Amino acid sequence: MIKVSFAAKRPTGAFALAIPVRGEDMLQDRLGGLDEAARNLAVRAADAQRFERETAAVAEAFVDEGDAVRRLVLIGLGGAQADDALYERVGGALTARLLTSGETKAVIDLDGLKLSARDAARIGFGAAARSWRHDHYRTKLGRKHKPTLAELVIVGAPDGAEQAWAHEAAVLEGLSLTRNLVSEPPNIVYPESFVARCREAIEGDGVSFEVLDEKAMAKLGMGALLGVGQGSARPPRLLVMRWNGGKSGAKPVVFIGKGITFDTGGISIKPALGMESMKWDMGGAGAVAGLMKAVATRKAKANVIGICVLAENMPDGNAQRPGDIVTSMSGQTIEVINTDAEGRLVLADAMTWAQRNAKPEVMVDLATLTGAMVISLGHEYGGMFSNDDGLAEGLFAAGKASGDKLWRMPMGEAYDKIMDSPIADMKNSAAREGGSITAACFLGRFVEEGVKWAHLDIAGMVWSDKAGHLYDKGATGYGVALLDRYLADNHEG
Ligand code: BES
Ligand code: MN
Ligand code: ZN
Repeated sequence: MIKVSFAAKRPTGAFALAIPVRGEDMLQDRLGGLDEAARNLAVRAADAQRFERETAAVAEAFVDEGDAVRRLVLIGLGGAQADDALYERVGGALTARLLTSGETKAVIDLDGLKLSARDAARIGFGAAARSWRHDHYRTKLGRKHKPTLAELVIVGAPDGAEQAWAHEAAVLEGLSLTRNLVSEPPNIVYPESFVARCREAIEGDGVSFEVLDEKAMAKLGMGALLGVGQGSARPPRLLVMRWNGGKSGAKPVVFIGKGITFDTGGISIKPALGMESMKWDMGGAGAVAGLMKAVATRKAKANVIGICVLAENMPDGNAQRPGDIVTSMSGQTIEVINTDAEGRLVLADAMTWAQRNAKPEVMVDLATLTGAMVISLGHEYGGMFSNDDGLAEGLFAAGKASGDKLWRMPMGEAYDKIMDSPIADMKNSAAREGGSITAACFLGRFVEEGVKWAHLDIAGMVWSDKAGHLYDKGATGYGVALLDRYLADNHEG
C-alpha cells in the first residue's frame, strides 16, 4: 500500500498535484499557486473532459512550470448533499487514476476546504486502501501494469489529522491482512496455515491466542463442526483471539467469522463452473482476523474476542453424508440434508463455545453463508439479521459511515419452523425460498438467553469481479472498517 503523510505546505520537486473541488467552488479559486496561464489551461482542460465536480470524478491537465511539467488532477467533491464515505472515495479515485500512471508521488492540497481532521485522514484511508494489490503470484507482470505510485502527501489538513490518521492506518493494517488471507489460494491458506498467518501478523501486538484442534473439539462435543471437517485431509481449527483494552471485567464483544478455507459442497458437491471462487468462503474469518489486527494496532479501549471457525469442506470416503445426524455442542441434534449448507454447522458450535466461554454482551457473526443473499442484495449491501434493534441500528450506522453497507433482513417464527426436522431437532437445509433467512433462523437456535446477536451474511461482499471505490478487483476486505467503526462508536465510550 502507498505511504501517507501530512505536511503544512506543498513540497518541492516532482509530484502530481491533486486539487479537490466542490460543486459550488470557482475552479479558478482552487488553483492557487499556479500562474495565470496554468490556471486557464486547467479550467479549459476540465471543461473539455466534462468535469462537473461529481463525487470522485477526476479530470487531468499537464501544466508548464518552466523547467518542468506538472500533472494536475482535479477531483470532484460533489454537491451540497455529501455522499456516504465521500472522503474515502475521493482518496480512492486519486489512487485509481495515478497508481500505474508513472507518477511516484502525489500531493493533495486541501487548503481552503476547511475539512475536519477526520475527513482529511479519510482521504488517506481511501487512497491507501485503493492501492492494495496482491501481485505475489504474478511473476511476469508487464512494466506498464506495475504500480508506480508510492506515496501521498496531504497538505493543508487541520491539527489532529495525524492522530486521526493513526486510527485509519491501524484499520488499513487489518484490511490488508484480511485481503491477503482472502486472496491466497486454498492450497496455501487452510485451517492450520490460517492460524499460523494470524499468529505471525497479530500475536506480537498483545493479542492472546487459543487454538482448539480436532481432539479438543471432540472432547467438547462439537459434532457439527467436526462433521464438516471430517472429509478433509486438513483438520479443522477454532482460533480464538482476545484483546483486552477495555475495563477489566467488562463483558466482551465477540465476533465470529465463518472460515471455510475451501467449500466444494462436500458430498452434495457444487458444479465445477466457478467452484474456484469458494476459496473465499473464509471471508468472514478473514474479516475477524483483520479486525483484531486493527483493534490491537490502535489499542482499542474495548474487550474484544475474535473467533475464526476454520474447516475445509471436502468429499471423500470419510466425509459426512446427506442424512447423517450430528449432535452439536449445544446438545441440539441436526439432520444434515445438504452437506453444502456447512457454514451454519460450523458456526453453530463456534457460537455455543463463545457463549459458554466468553459470556458476551454482544455477539456478531460474519459469514459468506448463502448464495441466496447475493440474489437478494447483490454486491451493494451485506444482509443483517438481529434479535436486538439497538445492535442492528449501531451496525447499520457503522455500515453507512464506513462504506461497508448493511441492510436489515427479517426473521421470525414462520421462517424458523421451516428448519424443523421430522427426525432430529432441526435440519440444516430446506427449500430455496427465503434461503438466507432460514439460514439465519437456524443460527438463531444457537443464541442463548440475553445475548444480543447479529448475523451478517456477506456472501456478496467479500470478493468483487470489478474494481470498486476502495478496492481493485478481488478481495475487498469488507467488514474490517465496518466492525472497527461499530466498536469505536459503541463500545469505547
Ligand atoms: N459458501 C456457500 C454460500 C455462497 C454461495 C457464498 C455463493 C458465496 C457465493 C455456502 O456454504 C453454501 O453452499 N450455501 C448453500 C446453502 C444451501 C445448500 C441451503 C447455497 O447458498 O446454495
Ligand atoms: Mn457450502
Ligand atoms: Zn460455504
